[in-house]
Amino acid sequence: MKKHVLAAILGASVLFSAQAGTLHVGTEATFAPFEFMDEQTKELTGFDMELIAAVAKAVGDDIKVQNMGFDGLIPSLQTGIIDVTAAAMTITPERVKRIDFTEPYYQSGLVILVKKDNLDKVKDLDSLQGKTICAQIGTTGAMMAKHVKDAKVTEYNSITEAFLELKQGGCLAVINDKPVVDYYLARRGDKTVTTLPQVFDAEYYGFGVKKGNKEMVAKLNEGLKKVRESGEYDQIYQKWFGTKAQ
Ligand code: ARG
Repeated sequence: MKKHVLAAILGASVLFSAQAGTLHVGTEATFAPFEFMDEQTKELTGFDMELIAAVAKAVGDDIKVQNMGFDGLIPSLQTGIIDVTAAAMTITPERVKRIDFTEPYYQSGLVILVKKDNLDKVKDLDSLQGKTICAQIGTTGAMMAKHVKDAKVTEYNSITEAFLELKQGGCLAVINDKPVVDYYLARRGDKTVTTLPQVFDAEYYGFGVKKGNKEMVAKLNEGLKKVRESGEYDQIYQKWFGTKAQ
């Protein structure tokens, strides 16, 4: 009897926490146009920020966003500091062992960014063998860099630092997500750097949650479905990428 009462209370609290409240969202906000600080309002903004807010709203929640190191996101999920990551995080087999993901919400890929002066030296990934590569810590760009034979890989806390280091000649190339590099090139109007034509791997971004938290995954997937159906996803996509969602 007592056991039943306890089970009912536990069940109710699980149900309650899965129903309404505040979603604690973790991000790393140097990754425009997905997550970054709006210089004027000093608020975090971007595609991911608007999408996760819309998804949460669609299931009756609000959000509270915490900005942290990209390499701190998975540990923060695991220790319950945050409920979900909205950080342009690629769904990789390695990460799927440690956390769960929602349905994919964005298709991406990696590119190599170099100084135009070095285009004769760097033609493809193989020409980076034994060379210096910059990337953001813990990212798929950094993982790819580490697979290049004898390359010396420097990982930075923010992608902004990696871009700066490339400009200053501290490394020969940066490997990073294409939409972020494209946004950087378009916004900064930087004519001294460019990307190599090849785009690597179809990568898909998902919102990450603690391994085994099925209610949270189901809730977020339901929210995603709703914002896709309502046209809100398309609006947010159009706003940040200037084109129709693929
Ligand atoms: N998509 C890449 C990855 O998952 C880079 C993500 C970096 N995100 C960020 N908010 N800094 O590894």
